[in-house]
Amino acid sequence: MYIKRGIIKELGKSLRRLSSAKRVAIITDKNLSRIYGAQVLNVLNSAGFETDVIAIEPGEKSKTLATLADVFEGLVKSRITRRDIIIALGGGVVGDLGGFAASSFLRGMPYVQVPTSLIAQVDSSIGGKVAVDLPQGKNLVGSFYHPEAVFIDPDFLDTLDAREFSNGMAEVIKYGCIKDRQLFEELTGFDKNELLNNIETIIFKCLSIKKKFVEEDETDQGARMMLNFGHTLGHAIEKYYHYAKYSHGEAVAVGMYRVTKNSEDMGLTEPGTSQRLKEVLSKYGLPYEMPAGNAAEIVEVIAMDKKNKGDSIDIVLLNSIGDGFIKNINKDEIPRFFL
Ligand SMILES: NC(=O)c1ccc[n+]([C@@H]2O[C@H](COP(=O)([O-])OP(=O)(O)OC[C@H]3O[C@@H](n4cnc5c(N)ncnc54)[C@H](O)[C@@H]3O)[C@@H](O)[C@H]2O)c1
Ligand SMILES: [Zn+2]
Repeated sequence: MYIKRGIIKELGKSLRRLSSAKRVAIITDKNLSRIYGAQVLNVLNSAGFETDVIAIEPGEKSKTLATLADVFEGLVKSRITRRDIIIALGGGVVGDLGGFAASSFLRGMPYVQVPTSLIAQVDSSIGGKVAVDLPQGKNLVGSFYHPEAVFIDPDFLDTLDAREFSNGMAEVIKYGCIKDRQLFEELTGFDKNELLNNIETIIFKCLSIKKKFVEEDETDQGARMMLNFGHTLGHAIEKYYHYAKYSHGEAVAVGMYRVTKNSEDMGLTEPGTSQRLKEVLSKYGLPYEMPAGNAAEIVEVIAMDKKNKGDSIDIVLLNSIGDGFIKNINKDEIPRFFL
C-alpha cells in the first residue's frame, strides 16, 4: 500500500520493481481514460511496458457480467499472459470489476489497484473483495482476490466532483466514529485546505483501520462487521430508491446519524455524540435526516434483506466517538434502532 502525492508519475518504475511483465493491460473507465489516459500510458511506456487500455462506460451500471465479458475480450486482444500484469485504474466500479476480471482471467492474473475516487482510496481498493452486480442485487458474483500492490495518489482527487468527494468523506467519518477519535476531531476542526493538506495521513489512517479489521476477518465472518457502521440502514435507503437518489456515502451518512441518535436516546451511546456527528456530516455536504414520508417503508427493507436471516441481526453502535461496538438485536427491535 503506497500513499503519496504524485506517485502516479513513478508508476512505471514501481511496477518494474514488482514485475517482470512485458505487457500491461489497463482497465479503466472513459472519464479517467480521458483525463489521465495519456499520462499513465506515457509513464508505463517510458518504463518499457507495452500497453493496452480497456475503458468501460463510467458508473455502477457497468458493474455487470456483460461489461465483464467486454473486458475479457479486451484482455484476449491485448495478448497478455500470466507473466504480465493488469492495472485497475479508477473508482470502486473499475476496482471491483477489474479486480474480478484479474481474479479469473487465465485462472488469475497479477494485478495492481490504482484507486482514483476517495471511496476507492479509503475503502474499496483494499480488503480483497472484487465483484460484479446481477440484476437481482449488488456484488452477487465475485471473489476474494488481493492485488500485488495498491498505489494511492491523492492528486487524483483534484478532478473528482464535489458530490463524489462527499461520498468518500462519509466513509472517512465512519472510520473516525468506529475507531479513531483523533481523526474525528481533526475532521471537525479542518477547513477544506487543511483537509486536503492532510489527506495523505487521513487516507493512511482509514486504510490502517480497514486493514486491521480485514486481517482479523479476511472472509467476512465477524470482525469486519464493524466497518458496516451506518450501512445497515444505508443499504436499505440505497435499495429503496433503486440506487438512484442517494449516493452510497449519503445513505451511509443518514444511517450513521439515525442509529446513533436512537442509541443515544436509549442510553447506549454517550450523550452529545449524535449532535457532533450531525455537525461533521453537514460540514462535508452530507445529509443526516431520514427522507420524510418513506422512513417506515425504508426500515422494513432491513428485515427483508436476505443477508439478515434468522430472528436477530448484528448492528454497529457507538459507545462514544472513536469507539464502536457490535450489538445483536432481535428483529422486532429494528424500528427502535432505525426509525
Ligand atoms: N470492494 C470493496 O470492498 C468495496 C468497498 C466500497 C465500495 N465498493 C464499490 O465501489 C463502487 C463505488 O465506487 P465509486 O464511488 O468510486 O464509483 P465509480 O467507480 O463509479 O466512480 C464514481 C465516478 O467518479 C469518476 N471518477 C473516479 N475517479 C475520478 C477522478 N479522479 N477524477 C474524475 N472523475 C473520477 C468515475 O468515472 C465515476 O463517474 C460500488 O460499486 C461499490 O460497491 C467496493
Ligand atoms: Zn461503504
